[in-house]
Amino acid sequence: MKQPDTADPAEPVIGNPDTSHVVRQEAVALLRSLEPTSAQVIIADPPYGIAYHSNHRVGKNPHAPVTNDWNFKIGAFLIAAGNVLKEGGVLYLFTRWDVYPLWSSLVAPPLTLKNVIVWNKDNHSAGDLRGDFGNKYEMLMMLTRGKFRRRGHRWSNVWEFPRVSAAAMLHPTQKPVALIQRAIEASSDLGDLVLDPFCGSGSTGVAALACGRRVLLGDVDPAMVRMSRVRLGEMEPEKEKASVEAPFVTECPIFGAVPPSPSLWGLHPEDLAHALGESAGK
Ligand SMILES: C[S@@+](CC[C@H](N)C(=O)[O-])C[C@H]1O[C@@H](n2cnc3c(N)ncnc32)[C@H](O)[C@@H]1O
Repeated sequence: MKQPDTADPAEPVIGNPDTSHVVRQEAVALLRSLEPTSAQVIIADPPYGIAYHSNHRVGKNPHAPVTNDWNFKIGAFLIAAGNVLKEGGVLYLFTRWDVYPLWSSLVAPPLTLKNVIVWNKDNHSAGDLRGDFGNKYEMLMMLTRGKFRRRGHRWSNVWEFPRVSAAAMLHPTQKPVALIQRAIEASSDLGDLVLDPFCGSGSTGVAALACGRRVLLGDVDPAMVRMSRVRLGEMEPEKEKASVEAPFVTECPIFGAVPPSPSLWGLHPEDLAHALGESAGK
């Protein structure tokens, strides 16, 4: 793995586990580093296995394609997430109609597919502008471990929340804070631990802290780690661009050591090397 040069120690470094809710770490490795049955909620919005890039503004799209879209393996992630969830905990997993058959076929104990929530957006997104209908909804698989107790209002399984406006958008697949907050509040209590191992712009962090939960976010992309830290008030916006890239963490801020050897992470070495190489800016 390429490690970035160590720059001036006075410069802010991202992914410092002593000072941040946000770490730069591969999702499965991060989950495996955590104590089993320690998290009440996992919000996960992984790559769908397609190179997402909106056609809407071809040539003018300000957002880069989502990192590592081709390499993510959902099976290893589901096992790791099932281990880290508490009894009575929930994994909310964003998916789409064309990805759902594969992902749902891989759900195994201790996880159970309890429901599928439809996120109905206020308008439809781009895609195949000439040959297809516009996508207006996303799916949220609700995977529980053990006996789940819903908190608060009994919402239906169709959730209406506007998309993040183009003007406010920091990430091409950014999720609205209010949507995530509903999931967290319906499934956890004050002080519970919420994880988001594919944090992107950090919406889960904003939502979790707003409702008094502990939170740990991870992402392989250093730009996303910086963006999340800025959104959580851990880094000043003007320092974001000047930051130097930290190596992948070997220590988790909450639970200690992360297995240092990629071979222990259980991913195919080529996939792992590819993912790490990409995110290290090769
Ligand atoms: C769909 S986006 C998440 C967007 C996020 N929900 C938001 O509201 O901004 C997926 C994120 O996962 C990250 N990612 C891709 N593969 C990863 C992996 N194997 N481990 C950790 N993060 C990964 C990408 O860098 C990207 O930021």
